[in-house]
Amino acid sequence: MILNSSQLAQFERDGWLFQENLFSPEEVAVLMADVPRIYALKREEVVREKDGETPRTAFAAQYYSEPFRRLSRHPRLIEPVRQILGGDVYLHQFKVNAKAAFDGDVWQWHQDYGTWQRDDGMPDSRALNIALFLEDVTACNGPLMLIPDSHRGGVFDAGHDRATTSYPLWTLDQETVSRLAQEKGMVAPLGKAGSVLMFHGNLVHGSPGNMSPFSRTIVYISACHVDNHIRKFERPEWIAHRDFTAIECLPDDCLIASV
Ligand code: SIN
Ligand code: MN
Repeated sequence: MILNSSQLAQFERDGWLFQENLFSPEEVAVLMADVPRIYALKREEVVREKDGETPRTAFAAQYYSEPFRRLSRHPRLIEPVRQILGGDVYLHQFKVNAKAAFDGDVWQWHQDYGTWQRDDGMPDSRALNIALFLEDVTACNGPLMLIPDSHRGGVFDAGHDRATTSYPLWTLDQETVSRLAQEKGMVAPLGKAGSVLMFHGNLVHGSPGNMSPFSRTIVYISACHVDNHIRKFERPEWIAHRDFTAIECLPDDCLIASV
């Protein structure tokens, strides 16, 4: 699947693009079937909420899950990124975020490239996120909130938040978020499982806690142009990958085809 010119223009203008029902219920079911096993694993890549139990995110799940390994090389996700970033891309980060029913905690306002630049020495913001909804995302289960067009202002000042949640993040202050939101508004793309949200590495985003009884599993692929690979290796490899090989896509039916 390749983006058309109006989709490309929208991504450039707004910093995000939402496509509903890009993956079928059958494909989503293949991925979701492995999620309980992944979150039950006692390994460092599976980060828990502050209660020490509730799963928050499973980093690098493509290393220890066959369906997610296939997804990390899926042409429906990777080809549009190659198109936007203008060439070969490698996998910088891969995570399956839980936002568990009742206990899923907040992600404070941030820009992903702010972290990739400061912590990983990524030279430029020639990188982006693709989020595939594995469960329906509604107004009630902690949807991702975005500030459209916030990606063109570069990297904003941020503080290193190690306290608010169980995962350290470079977060923006309330004054910056208020100024941007008053100017540009705020959106929360909602949709069925199988929908895909792409957003620029500099787009300001965050999500509230989930006090609903519905979990909100989303898998995030962060892809970077191969020429723009990271130069600093301070975070663990399973958070900021060091294999800068161009992703080679599998066939379009890779999730449902038998090996
Ligand atoms: C993120 O911004 O990295 C995750 C946010 C979320 O899953 O709600
Ligand atoms: Mn983020």
